[in-house]
Amino acid sequence: MNKKLIEVCDLNFENILSNISLEIFESDFIAIVGSNGGGKTTFLKLLLNILKPNSGEIQYFENIKNKMGYVPQNATVVDVIFPATVKEILETAFITNSSILKKISKNEKDYLKFLMQNFEITNLNSKLFAELSGGQKQRVMIVKALANKPKILFLDEPDMGLDKISQSKFIDNLNRINKENKTSIVFITHHLGMIEKYITKTFCINGILK
Ligand SMILES: Nc1ncnc2c1ncn2[C@@H]1O[C@H](COP(=O)(O)OP(=O)(O)OP(=O)(O)O)[C@@H](O)[C@H]1O
Ligand SMILES: [Mg+2]
Repeated sequence: MNKKLIEVCDLNFENILSNISLEIFESDFIAIVGSNGGGKTTFLKLLLNILKPNSGEIQYFENIKNKMGYVPQNATVVDVIFPATVKEILETAFITNSSILKKISKNEKDYLKFLMQNFEITNLNSKLFAELSGGQKQRVMIVKALANKPKILFLDEPDMGLDKISQSKFIDNLNRINKENKTSIVFITHHLGMIEKYITKTFCINGILK
């Protein structure tokens, strides 16, 4: 049986989310749908501890708090305030609170190389992030989120800005990571059709969970 990673119990936040309860297990591929302003992004931010709930509880198991990856909505408009290259942005994936100056291991380098090939961004390595196209930026942010092998990956409309071919390669890659590494995927989208065949659960969040 798959291990439980997160349990949300009766969560309330401002007047945006009411009485949300759900469980997330290893290997889940969860789709979150709902109308604009329904609270999907807010819910992810609560799970990631970026926001604090007014009441209710989020329990974390299997030390999962340290193994969560996140691609925010509109990740590509994140202002990079210094002229960082793609390589520099990707290497920040390996910085942890405890080891700012940690050397990147051979295994980490190899895996990053593998991901960069998969997402076809190898040729962008030395380019400035700010000068990439929207879809190229999005692919860099996805590789960054995957680089340190999270056990759960939160994706907030990650397909935005990707062309059809990049979208389908992205979904195939996600499916492989989900199956091979048992990584749980929590995927907010307005285009369910794209991931339909891989989803294990779908939640609809419009202020409340349905
Ligand atoms: N920083 C903020 N401060 C105050 N209210 C906010 C903030 N961010 C979002 N909201 C409000 O919270 C509600 C839920 O927003 P949220 O971004 O979670 O929706 P969403 O379901 O992700 O929508 P979309 O599909 O458009 O991305 C909205 O009414 C929004 O106006
Ligand atoms: Mg949103």
